[in-house]
Amino acid sequence: MLDRSNELTAWDRDHFFHPSTHMAAHARGDTPNRVITGGEGVYIVDRDGRRSLDAFAGLYCVNVGYGRTEIADAIAEQAHKLAYYHAYAGHGSEPSIRLAKMIVDRAPQGMSRVFFGLSGSDANETNIKLVWYYNNVLGRPEKKKIISRWRGYHGSGVMTGSLTGLELFHNAFDLPRAPILHTEAPYYFRRADRSLSEEAFAQHCADKLEELILAEGPETVAAFIGEPVLGTGGIVPPPAGYWEKIQAVLAKYDVLLIADEVVTGFGRLGSMFGSDHYGLKPDLITIAKGLTSAYAPLSGVIVSDRVWKVLEKGSDAMGVLGHGWTYSAHPLCAAAGIANLEVLDRLGLVANAGEVGAYFRSALTEALAGHRIVGEVRGEGLLAAVEFAADGEAGVLFDPALKVGPRIAAALLERGVIARAMPQGDILGFAPPLCLSREEVDTIVAATRGAVDEIAATL
Ligand SMILES: Cc1ncc(COP(=O)(O)O)c(C=O)c1O
Repeated sequence: MLDRSNELTAWDRDHFFHPSTHMAAHARGDTPNRVITGGEGVYIVDRDGRRSLDAFAGLYCVNVGYGRTEIADAIAEQAHKLAYYHAYAGHGSEPSIRLAKMIVDRAPQGMSRVFFGLSGSDANETNIKLVWYYNNVLGRPEKKKIISRWRGYHGSGVMTGSLTGLELFHNAFDLPRAPILHTEAPYYFRRADRSLSEEAFAQHCADKLEELILAEGPETVAAFIGEPVLGTGGIVPPPAGYWEKIQAVLAKYDVLLIADEVVTGFGRLGSMFGSDHYGLKPDLITIAKGLTSAYAPLSGVIVSDRVWKVLEKGSDAMGVLGHGWTYSAHPLCAAAGIANLEVLDRLGLVANAGEVGAYFRSALTEALAGHRIVGEVRGEGLLAAVEFAADGEAGVLFDPALKVGPRIAAALLERGVIARAMPQGDILGFAPPLCLSREEVDTIVAATRGAVDEIAATL
């Protein structure tokens, strides 16, 4: 029933078009409209005073936690000094230049420049354009196809929604568009051939990639994009040996590697970048979320020296780069980024993500592995997931109509903990702020066990 007694609720139902929401159900008042009013540490509070432990850090982005006044102060100070000036034609502001230097100092070896945007999606749009430009400069106009993975998530624009390998983001939008192709997801739990070892499955994924490149013609394949750990597609760490085998195929056919580190960048895995964590040598890296911990919207593409040298040649031949956003390198966002990285360093949050992440995974495994509706407990650093299955050993999943994952997430919320029912599958995802303590882990794990038992009893 639609409650019209509250003005804010009525306006929300009538005028606010929410992203990733059931439009009709929300307008009718069939779904909750939770209005969040505050946050402190790993907790958020809503207008009814209900406090929840946010074990997904918003959308895996509030990495330093809520209520960091030093970041708010840095934004305010910059707003008083200079709220905006553009970055076109060589202009800049002090914070955007400083932040570019801080990012390159923390990035994997061989990276040289940062192009700033506002969202992970726009940064991946930039990546596609830079890859096409790069091959045009090199005189290879036919080398333009981009290979992504099924279950990868890279945004929801026209091209980035095409890169995304989840049907939910394609259906009724006429996506994916050419020239985007998809290859096997590195999802060991869901492998078709149950007899394969992790190594053998990783080899199978690399073989599928090579087959696709050969079928399309290596002279037409420009780049491969992947998240070091599959995120929205299910929070799935790669099988052993995966990245090494994939990179060997890419090198063989001169295909660029784009590491989408929107989730893994700036510490989530217990390493500054997922690329360092798994030994990736990317040509381009996508960053967003953890760059400012979402205190302001900011993304970027970190460009390697190898790619940069070609781009430079391009402008000597063709002139000014015809690509940019009004808000590229926005000074307020850059100020937030600097203050955020300072908090990350000062509090040692990257190391904390590694240590508390290991504790979280082992506590979650102890509480849930072997439970009759749990197929797998997995994770890396402060990313974790519990996948529910009718028969985990045989890889038999539940009927999606049972909504096992969403119902467990709802039961968990009732217990004061927010985890995310991942969009395709009965998967409960965790990506808490990197400042999480062991005591908070215990709270999350106890509540999760209670929620799983409650829903299991109904199945
Ligand atoms: C790996 C990855 N890439 C890109 C994006 C898109 O970022 P945005 O929602 O800021 O456009 C996301 C968002 O969750 C992501 O997880």
